[in-house]
Amino acid sequence: MSSKNVLITGVAGMIGSHLLDDLLERGYTVTGMDDLSYGSEANIVHRKTHPRFRFLNANVLDIDKLKSAAEGSQCIVHLAALKKISEKEEAYPTLSVNATGTENVLKVARELDIKVVFASTSDVYGMSPDLPLNEDGDLLIGPSMIKRWSYAVSKLYGEQMANAYYRDFGVPVVILRYFGAFSPRSNFSWSGGHIPIFIQQVLKDEAITIHGDGSQTRSMGFVSDLVEGTRLAMESDLAIGEIINLGNDEELSVLDSAKLIHSIAGTGKELKLKFIPMADIFGKYKDIMRRIPDLSKAKRLLGYSPQVSMQEAIRLTIHEAKKGMA
Ligand SMILES: NC(=O)c1ccc[n+]([C@@H]2O[C@H](COP(=O)([O-])OP(=O)(O)OC[C@H]3O[C@@H](n4cnc5c(N)ncnc54)[C@H](O)[C@@H]3O)[C@@H](O)[C@H]2O)c1
Repeated sequence: MSSKNVLITGVAGMIGSHLLDDLLERGYTVTGMDDLSYGSEANIVHRKTHPRFRFLNANVLDIDKLKSAAEGSQCIVHLAALKKISEKEEAYPTLSVNATGTENVLKVARELDIKVVFASTSDVYGMSPDLPLNEDGDLLIGPSMIKRWSYAVSKLYGEQMANAYYRDFGVPVVILRYFGAFSPRSNFSWSGGHIPIFIQQVLKDEAITIHGDGSQTRSMGFVSDLVEGTRLAMESDLAIGEIINLGNDEELSVLDSAKLIHSIAGTGKELKLKFIPMADIFGKYKDIMRRIPDLSKAKRLLGYSPQVSMQEAIRLTIHEAKKGMA
């Protein structure tokens, strides 16, 4: 990009706030939009008075505010979304924000001639057994009666809509399928992923709550790697019109990650585990047993490769969490 004005939607969230830090350090001018429904002002407060940052407390469903936030930008990084939900929560907000919010971003980008980097998710692969998960592979989504699938389906709809805006209207779009990531700014509710929750539980000497038997594996990464990949996608012409996995391809079971966190935290307390039957949280939802990204396309198109090991990411997050609790 020749000029460096960027709009980040969802700027107060885990990824958005770290992307904001990175872009400001690199000389970008950033408008950040967030309705603070889920993210936290604490994540961006240290940037509030930065001369190249402007914050708008607004909802992406409000297209007029979105348009005024986007004026003058060369790129919109669209991160604002509601994430995975349990069987006890409402699915409508997730479907509405993720589908309509994404189309609003694309409409504005078309009108103002702006590139869009859209944050999709590894959840769209669903139960696909084709490991490592490749961008061209088939997607295997579960039954519509199970609310947990609403997140994956809403992001898949966003991907199709983004592709339509690219192919039908010529809007330059990059779709990033993020695999799980965390940082000290992760939301410590279940929707922020299992690692931050386990860290809090270990530090508070509570039992680690494991869904199922913990044999399911995940490939989790540190936020700095997702931020780097996102910036590379913003800056790359090769990425336009493409779907690209981003994340870390190390694989670790949920149970082993609990043990690793306990050992790195070094609290001197014994490891306590509490196994919760999947059905108690997700009803008939079948958990994904393995989820590993194929990162070869990200390497080829963006020169991306993750730099922070899962172990180091856990160590960094525990270090910050201990400071916060001191
Ligand atoms: N963190 C991960 O591991 C991960 C994995 C896959 C995909 N993603 C995707 O990456 C993006 C960012 O994830 P994150 O972990 O930073 O999530 P997050 O929940 O920390 O951040 C999302 C932000 O969007 C804001 N938001 C929600 N609805 C909004 C609305 N209607 N208008 C304006 N702002 C709104 C929230 O307040 C929050 O600050 C999301 O689109 C998510 O689906 C994240």
